[in-house]
Amino acid sequence: MYNLLKGKRGIIFGALDPKSIAWKIAEKAHEEGATFVLTNAPIALRMGTMNELAEKTGSEIIAADATSMEDLENLVTKSVEILGGKLDFVLHSIGMSVNVRKGRHYTDQKYDFTTKGWDISAVSFHKVMNVLYKQDAMNEWGSIVALTYMAAQRVFPDYNDMADNKAYLESIARSFGYFFGTDKKVRVNTISQSPTPTTAGQGVKGFDGFFTYADKMSPLGNATADECADYTITLFSDLTKKVTLQNLFHDGGFSNVGVSQSVMDFFEKEE
Ligand SMILES: NC(=O)c1ccc[n+]([C@@H]2O[C@H](COP(=O)([O-])OP(=O)(O)OC[C@H]3O[C@@H](n4cnc5c(N)ncnc54)[C@H](O)[C@@H]3O)[C@@H](O)[C@H]2O)c1
Repeated sequence: MYNLLKGKRGIIFGALDPKSIAWKIAEKAHEEGATFVLTNAPIALRMGTMNELAEKTGSEIIAADATSMEDLENLVTKSVEILGGKLDFVLHSIGMSVNVRKGRHYTDQKYDFTTKGWDISAVSFHKVMNVLYKQDAMNEWGSIVALTYMAAQRVFPDYNDMADNKAYLESIARSFGYFFGTDKKVRVNTISQSPTPTTAGQGVKGFDGFFTYADKMSPLGNATADECADYTITLFSDLTKKVTLQNLFHDGGFSNVGVSQSVMDFFEKEE
């Protein structure tokens, strides 16, 4: 524990259950001295176990569908009231593809599903920042982070339309981050995390295969949800004040490796 977030206030989106990356981030943010509001979609609150996390971290829960401007406006106004001042950090840890859920192939999407998927997974980030910006709810040198995946840059066939959603999300981080930086001195980044066994992660077809492949390709192995939480805390802290508009790979080195010895060994054995 380093007290990196002592006195800082925030909002954490997306903690569904103890496997969620946002859950781990909330635990670490609490350990590092932050106070925050937890939020998730109303349906997730009914299904999830968030009360346990709220109790553990002394947080209040406010329901908000991240695609609803009305819900987001209410969330931000109430959070500032509850926490007693403007915000220093916001975590967007939200992703969902209806095409993936319903087993539609990438080449055969139902476009209503596609639209819902990008609204939840990408445009919601724009909406969150829009509300924070208009309500002037962020303190100077605050930090906004969204979680993403490398399928935004490289092909992972089973990631389906989430690949396009992540590319959109990362672009929004840069575009809105420009205005948030210039006008309010707030930084905006995305963290591109290794495959992680969570509800959203394991919903992707072939997850075990690409989890193991990434692990064998990465010099440091896959990054866990706990490690992602540690990294996110540094981005919320004052130690990274000039890092903005970046897509930051947190993947044990996977993104820069062409092939690893252990993957070659596997194929050489097969010959
Ligand atoms: N698990 C992985 O392999 C992996 C890898 C890289 C990036 N990510 C990203 O990390 C983030 C968190 O995912 P996770 O793996 O912790 O899974 P998760 O299933 O625990 O979290 C996804 C969250 O999105 C929330 N959500 C869905 N629709 C919503 C809506 N309309 N409004 C508000 N919230 C909504 C869910 O309730 C859930 O809490 C996602 O952006 C995901 O794409 C995950």
